[in-house]
Amino acid sequence: MNEYDSARLSAILELNGASQAFRPEKADIILVNTCSVRAKAEESAIARIWDLKKLKIENKGLKIGILGCMAKNRGDSLLKDLPFLDFILPPDEYQKLPEILFQKEPAPQTPFAKLTNKYSAFIAIQSGCNMRCAYCIVPYVRGREQYREPSSILKEIEAATAAGVSEIVLLGQTVNGYRYKGLSFAELLKQVASIKGVERIRFVSPHPIHYTSELLALLMNEKKIAPHVHLPAQSGSNSVLKKMKRQYTREAYLSIVEALRSFNPLYGITTDIICGYPGETEEEFEETLSLLQEARFDGAFMFAYSPREGTPSASEKELLTEEEKKSRLQRVIDLQHSITLERAKLMLGRQERILLEKLSKRNTNEWIGKTGNFKKVIIPAQPSFREGMYVDCVIEGVRGHTLIGGFQLIHL
Ligand code: 5AD
Ligand code: SF4
Repeated sequence: MNEYDSARLSAILELNGASQAFRPEKADIILVNTCSVRAKAEESAIARIWDLKKLKIENKGLKIGILGCMAKNRGDSLLKDLPFLDFILPPDEYQKLPEILFQKEPAPQTPFAKLTNKYSAFIAIQSGCNMRCAYCIVPYVRGREQYREPSSILKEIEAATAAGVSEIVLLGQTVNGYRYKGLSFAELLKQVASIKGVERIRFVSPHPIHYTSELLALLMNEKKIAPHVHLPAQSGSNSVLKKMKRQYTREAYLSIVEALRSFNPLYGITTDIICGYPGETEEEFEETLSLLQEARFDGAFMFAYSPREGTPSASEKELLTEEEKKSRLQRVIDLQHSITLERAKLMLGRQERILLEKLSKRNTNEWIGKTGNFKKVIIPAQPSFREGMYVDCVIEGVRGHTLIGGFQLIHL
């Protein structure tokens, strides 16, 4: 979501005559888009912002602003803690940017996000979140859910495909809970799929409670919807899920996994896991390990619980030390790594359609792309390769968690 917001901000700046500086030393405006979801994200943003202070000595006219969730979460205290800052601007006030930087009237409508590459475009369809998971700061910094008008979503997608982009990633905190005057998320997906030039559709992040039978049926019937989902589980323990206020059980979560994998055993499923939630016992933690064993995720983002001031769980006593939380985190990471590797190996020998993203930085004889089930593939470069092209290859090897593609076995 922040990447998408940054692309929107770029579009606003360019509309006002600014152009991108490729190094901070060359910039007259530096906007730091921040995240508050875990303490670590805030700490690293603050460290980066302190680093920018010295640039003000060289360039007296330099303006530095903090945007994003930290601007909302920490508010004016940031201006006191970082006295060299020029301004802060929370996510719900981005339309004020032209006024702050260029003394212009706020634009009645913000432009579409700037496309950052030629293969894939993020398109926000929902902002905010109504879920109030007990550990999460997002509802406080991003506000109530708001759904974007379908016609505006479809127009932004049409503009992206007209510029050559073929992969569309719909964004929202609980993206599959989207609805607009009787139009369901599944119906919106159908409309997106019918747009000329759209080849692959993804959506991030769905919530397990919004997997309707209508949506599941569409995922299995609409070939343009890529066979991958990032479906945050957070925990494998029903008692922890209840305390987290996630509103589903382990069994309900696993039934979605089962539906997707029985349709396609190679369906890519990735997840988010939090370790060491307040009061999480060793047994409850082991239920998370067993969830990983059962669900066989293709990958996971795994975190140690981080108390966020103002959230309900922040007032619950933490019984685990930081070391104990880290040790649980390491155990899930180790287990998931072996499962990720096993899932990657299942791809060996398969013919796959790869969307080319970029030339490898490490080796210019190689291109990097993604399979439909969202696995990174490295393939030998061909002169005809271009960003955003689809190529068919055979998966011949696995390096780390990355697949290696080749062309030897393809007989078209
Ligand atoms: N502590 C640790 N992880 C968190 N997440 C959200 N809030 C917290 C927190 N307080 C994780 C969740 C979520 C992802 C974006 O960040 O796993 O899905
Ligand atoms: Fe946070 Fe829960 Fe909303 Fe996700 S669904 S953003 S974890 S409150």
